[in-house]
Amino acid sequence: MTNVVVSAPITTKKVQRLYNFLSPIYDYLTRNENFSKKKGLEVADIKSGFVALEVAFGTGQIIIESALKVGKDGKVYGIDISPKMLDRSRKKVKKHALTTRVDLQLGDARKLPYTDEVFDVVFSSYMLDLIDTPDISKVLVEFKRVLKRKGRLVLVSLSKGESWYSNMKVYEWIYSKSPSLFGGCRPVLLRSFLEELGFQNVKRKFLMAGRIIPVEIVWGDKPK
Ligand SMILES: C[S@@+](CC[C@H](N)C(=O)[O-])C[C@H]1O[C@@H](n2cnc3c(N)ncnc32)[C@H](O)[C@@H]1O
Repeated sequence: MTNVVVSAPITTKKVQRLYNFLSPIYDYLTRNENFSKKKGLEVADIKSGFVALEVAFGTGQIIIESALKVGKDGKVYGIDISPKMLDRSRKKVKKHALTTRVDLQLGDARKLPYTDEVFDVVFSSYMLDLIDTPDISKVLVEFKRVLKRKGRLVLVSLSKGESWYSNMKVYEWIYSKSPSLFGGCRPVLLRSFLEELGFQNVKRKFLMAGRIIPVEIVWGDKPK
């Protein structure tokens, strides 16, 4: 399979504006993606007492589920570039009475505001498909930096699938004309990026979201 990832011309400012705008309707628009995120969370294997990070938490659905998994002895951190997504997620955390276990902040995945080797798990869904190709490795280097040794990285992304009908050529063509139309996301294939960065036990699983959109879950462990 080709590993070609087309460029993502959408600027960070535009991404921020777009997700501020989409935040009230985001859960409805993306309901078909819930299954893939849940599968990703299963692979993350978050245990009681873990310290977990979600990068680009959106409306906070995975933050809540992770906070329930880490229990009262663990902690979940999250970062997102959209102030409106941050507001929405903070409200959700408060509603679930999980504020003591969760710490959310505004920020950019390219420069994480955390010290080295602090997280047992780093999870990110549907964000790397927004990040321009030269920055993908930069972001993954940051993810690796903040992971503890033997910590796990899990990525869920729009992808190309394994079949001829899921090669996403038509999608990529429409995307090249109007990237914002699809929330700025284009298909990516991330397995080789993790392998090049020295992650171990790298695995990939392909799924279909809503039967037509190919998704990949890629995960790997930071070496000891
Ligand atoms: C498609 S949504 C995915 C949200 C959530 N992870 C999910 O799967 O429902 C993309 C999210 O990534 C955030 N985002 C985009 N670029 C980012 C960056 N460079 N750093 C942090 N967050 C970013 C957006 O604000 C938005 O909340």
